[in-house]
Amino acid sequence: MSSLEQNVPASATHYSGAMFSGASHMTFGASSTFQTNVYEADRSKEIAASAAPAGSILHFDILDFICSQKPKGFTAGMTDLGPVSPFFTGRKDILADLETYFFVKSPSTEAQEKKLFVLYGMGGAGKTQTALKFMNTFRKRFTQSYMITANSEESIMASYYDIALKNGLGEFSNWEAGLRWLSQHEEEWIILYDNADDLDLDLGKFLPQSSHGNIIVTSRNSSLKQISIKSKVLKDMEPEDGLQLLLKHAIKDHEATPEQKLTASDIAAQLHYFALALTEWKSTSKC
Ligand SMILES: Nc1ncnc2c1ncn2[C@@H]1O[C@H](COP(=O)(O)OP(=O)(O)O)[C@@H](O)[C@H]1O
Ligand SMILES: [Mg+2]
Repeated sequence: MSSLEQNVPASATHYSGAMFSGASHMTFGASSTFQTNVYEADRSKEIAASAAPAGSILHFDILDFICSQKPKGFTAGMTDLGPVSPFFTGRKDILADLETYFFVKSPSTEAQEKKLFVLYGMGGAGKTQTALKFMNTFRKRFTQSYMITANSEESIMASYYDIALKNGLGEFSNWEAGLRWLSQHEEEWIILYDNADDLDLDLGKFLPQSSHGNIIVTSRNSSLKQISIKSKVLKDMEPEDGLQLLLKHAIKDHEATPEQKLTASDIAAQLHYFALALTEWKSTSKC
């Protein structure tokens, strides 16, 4: 049964003839016909509207039904990876841990296990940037890379819908189709589940049920580490890395003088080598 069929309410089946009597390409008969042709409805919405009997209520019901497959908050390309800061610095230990877990021990399809790594720590510590840096560095080793904003069910569903579209499942697909695609494709895809901070959110129900695939979850919530055997906390940066990051942000057009380095070293220490604080500092101050 096609994904669309699963979501067609029983009551929808009797809409077919009446509604699309003038638009035979929209037949709701055999599942293949339905799935293939319903995609064409995108182009045909207006045609179907004109084809339905004047004043038909069924016509609007079914179009509403089809259109409702698009989750709220969806925007095309929303699962594209965000940018890595051009000033990205340090985090070598965590990047090495990620590399070891995802590659050095055999990849997920060989190991026949879904790999899940949780990065947790305070907001602004650098979780998202570190995950993106890893995914970007090794992008050729992954078959597909997606970024899901995981702060609400709505944004997760919209993201899976985007994944469905990216994999050619068609605009009249639904969010579950994206999830199913990942479960069914034994490939080295990777998903960044970013900002999974809400403990009330049942993340388990949104993770692909598979024995393959790679997932990085970032969260402010330390208890989320329980969902995986692999996790790492992100805290302050190494002092030398923190200093370098501050200098990169504060002085862009010339090498830091020894005095500037000393001053920056004090400031970086006062900021506890905390990534967000180091990058924000440059915007309000001059070195
Ligand atoms: N290793 C790093 N190198 C350079 N900038 C960083 C680094 N880590 C974080 N930042 C910067 O700090 C800010 C917060 O990072 P982010 O990854 O969004 O934090 P989190 O996901 O933990 O809330 C961003 O502006 C980001 O560019
Ligand atoms: Mg983040």
